[in-house]
Amino acid sequence: MATILDGKAVSAQVKADVKREVEALAGRGVSVSLAVILVGDDPASHTYVRNKEKACAEAGIQSKTYRLPAGTTEQELLALVEALNADKAVNGILCQLPLPKGLNEAAVIAAVSPAKDVDAFHTANVGHIMLGDYAFLPCTPAGIVELLDRYRIDPAGKHCVVIGRSNIVGKPMAMLLLHRNATVTVCHSKTEDLAAYTRTADILVAAVGKPRFVTADMVKPGAVVIDVGMDRDENGKLCGDVDFAAVEPKAAYITPVPGGVGPMTIATLLKNTVTAAKLQNGMA
Ligand code: GUN
Repeated sequence: MATILDGKAVSAQVKADVKREVEALAGRGVSVSLAVILVGDDPASHTYVRNKEKACAEAGIQSKTYRLPAGTTEQELLALVEALNADKAVNGILCQLPLPKGLNEAAVIAAVSPAKDVDAFHTANVGHIMLGDYAFLPCTPAGIVELLDRYRIDPAGKHCVVIGRSNIVGKPMAMLLLHRNATVTVCHSKTEDLAAYTRTADILVAAVGKPRFVTADMVKPGAVVIDVGMDRDENGKLCGDVDFAAVEPKAAYITPVPGGVGPMTIATLLKNTVTAAKLQNGMA
């Protein structure tokens, strides 16, 4: 029986800390605000953005969402980003990914001012993460490290295997674990004999995007299993990248889906938005 890593409960604690900080800033005349851009009608993205709006409201952060039609041109999107960059009342800017086909994600990420880039997607912030001197935390990886910290799971010296090499999760996850002195292996769709790697993982992070991809035979007994997936199975039911029912009895710790990594990602976004407000007001 594994201990469940309760991201919902831990994120509530983080949100309460953020709320106290937002109130303290308000007392010094600084309000904290986030602009969210959502293009098109991807249902999952709409859900994520609603969750982000709700979390901002709970923490006392002002948020405004710009919902744009799927047919928005790159020029229109970049013009909005530029306007938000220039607006002193906006501390953080987040453009929900993926963008509809035809819109260039790299161009939009590059257009966001690095000082307002609360996703930490801009090359300047990615570079800081690589070097370990960063102000903006990569939301999902940093949320995972915070969850490990709260359960006193120390990655130092451990073999951490990350499945997935995306810019949003896999690559920054590997980097943060390396900063915590883990021995890190990054696996991906071209990895030969994936299970040979995952079976040696003390901490296994699944960021694959395939429902119940990680099966019990791929997991070392007593491992810490972190599931980044938000997938739909063949019946349309929400599930993760890990076959939870089969893996849970074998693991020492495991994150549920939902209620594991997702809430921690949002908690980190709130922290980054406060950091942005502080930096822009000369307070950090
Ligand atoms: N799409 C999936 N995860 C994320 C995220 O953390 N930020 C943004 N902007 N888009 C995403």
